Amino acid sequence: MGERAVGCVDAGWAGVWGRLGAVRILPLVNFDDAEQAVATARALMRGGIDCVEVTFRTRAAVEAIRALSVLDGLFVAAGTVLSVGQLEQARVAGAQLALAPGSNFEVIRAACACGLPFVAGAGTASEVEALRHFGVRVVKVFPFRTVGGVEFLRSLAAVYPEMRFVPTGGIDAGNLSDAASAPGVLAVGGSWIAPVELVRAGCFDQIEQNARSARMLLR
Ligand code: 3PG
Repeated sequence: MGERAVGCVDAGWAGVWGRLGAVRILPLVNFDDAEQAVATARALMRGGIDCVEVTFRTRAAVEAIRALSVLDGLFVAAGTVLSVGQLEQARVAGAQLALAPGSNFEVIRAACACGLPFVAGAGTASEVEALRHFGVRVVKVFPFRTVGGVEFLRSLAAVYPEMRFVPTGGIDAGNLSDAASAPGVLAVGGSWIAPVELVRAGCFDQIEQNARSARMLLR
């Protein structure tokens, strides 16, 4: 596999990176149904966050993405996309971005082919380097806290200065500011803003408040 085997993956996706870099937080949510998804997204938007990552960890992912993709002004990402089939389902349902916890080059190739911006994951320098070699420039760093947190990002940014990172895994209000301001970070992701317990209990005011607090922490 040669350098830029699929071209510079990121070259055509600058608009999406710009959107992520502007909002700086990507709330990740596992939904049971589309109704939950719409109520959660509305709460996030009231709290100042106009994007959401719907994971493929539940069967409702596709219907949730479909329902969210028609909400005005909302940026919808599909998360935990582990196969070409899920990537295609996400694209058809209206996702504007897909992410995965690890690096599956078959999925990355498919994303390039179908034009759906994709962020693969890495948890080691070797994985980041393999993605870089492939032409990727934006990488999810997962599981962020476990692999070394901000210190790890600092080390990555020192040796791969052209790479941009989306750390997720173990981020909450306590380490959000540090993670978001670490070198090379484009945006941070995580489930703490809309955890499944709040979504299932219908605590949308609390989700709105969590979103607002997160925005404040990044000011
Ligand atoms: C992810 O896939 O990015 C993580 O599951 C998010 O981790 P968190 O639940 O610790 O925020």
